[in-house]
Amino acid sequence: MGAGIAQIAVTAGHDTVGREVSAEVAERGRATVERYLARGVEKGRLTAEARDTALARLTLTTDLAELAGCDLVIEAIVEELEPKRGLFAELDRITRPDAVLATNTSALSVAAIAEATQHPERVVGMHFFNPAPVLPLVEIVRAPRSSDAAVDLAYQWAEQAGKRPVRCNDTPGFIVNRILIPLLNDCVRVLDEAGVTPEDLDTAMTNGAGWPMGPCALVDLVGIDVHVHASKALHAQLGEPRMAPPERLVAMQCEGKLGRKTGAGFYTY
Ligand code: CAA
Repeated sequence: MGAGIAQIAVTAGHDTVGREVSAEVAERGRATVERYLARGVEKGRLTAEARDTALARLTLTTDLAELAGCDLVIEAIVEELEPKRGLFAELDRITRPDAVLATNTSALSVAAIAEATQHPERVVGMHFFNPAPVLPLVEIVRAPRSSDAAVDLAYQWAEQAGKRPVRCNDTPGFIVNRILIPLLNDCVRVLDEAGVTPEDLDTAMTNGAGWPMGPCALVDLVGIDVHVHASKALHAQLGEPRMAPPERLVAMQCEGKLGRKTGAGFYTY
């Protein structure tokens, strides 16, 4: 997700610092951006020169301190509250006081992340959808203490980058995941309840409900771990049984079958 967001930023003309946990993971992210921009050149969406200019805007680092000069920081780390709170407390110390700090959380409370900082007014949610360079939507999430200026900057940034932002409040799952997460959980439960294969379920939903991709392929794309974390967060906040992650997904997570990113999930990649 971080690589996808970095791709959006450099394509929109912003000097971008991509911070990763290791140089190796960072280089993998750069390779992903390069691959999709090269594809864009092949398809005539951008020139080779525009691709090279965009790639030159991306700097990689493992050092958080290199984000000190940024106007906007978009966080896309692991989908767990404590690591996010720790990161935001540190970003709050490192960055300029007028920088906006955005979280790409799928279903955690933006307020709970913001409260780890001394300046919760500059914290908002910017929730992108996978694959981020392709799907237009960005949910711009206002937490109770977010300032108008921070919300407006995030909205305008997304709009200028060619996305379709919508404003929403800091409610569990915001708009899309409040609906999509329990729905995907239902789909996964149907596999065992109805004795259906992932292939047949996906064929059914693409051909019978017009989905662009089947639910199993979609959970593989999002990441089993991300989906399980988001399900747990939604369940903890709203308590509906269907929001809890299905056992099958929890088992896949324990086995390290996290979907496309590990080469295996419902499908093999
Ligand atoms: N980065 C950049 N570009 C990508 C990409 C990626 N990761 N993945 C695919 N693309 C590009 C492809 O290169 C292709 O471009 P070309 O025109 O150059 O070929 C284009 O996207 C379409 O891809 P494909 O032709 O391979 O396949 P497709 O037409 O079936 O579209 C899809 C693929 C866009 C993923 C489409 O199936 C789709 O929209 N699926 C639904 C995705 C969805 O619902 N996402 C939301 C998940 S929920 C979420 O993310 C929120 C959360 O918090 C968990």
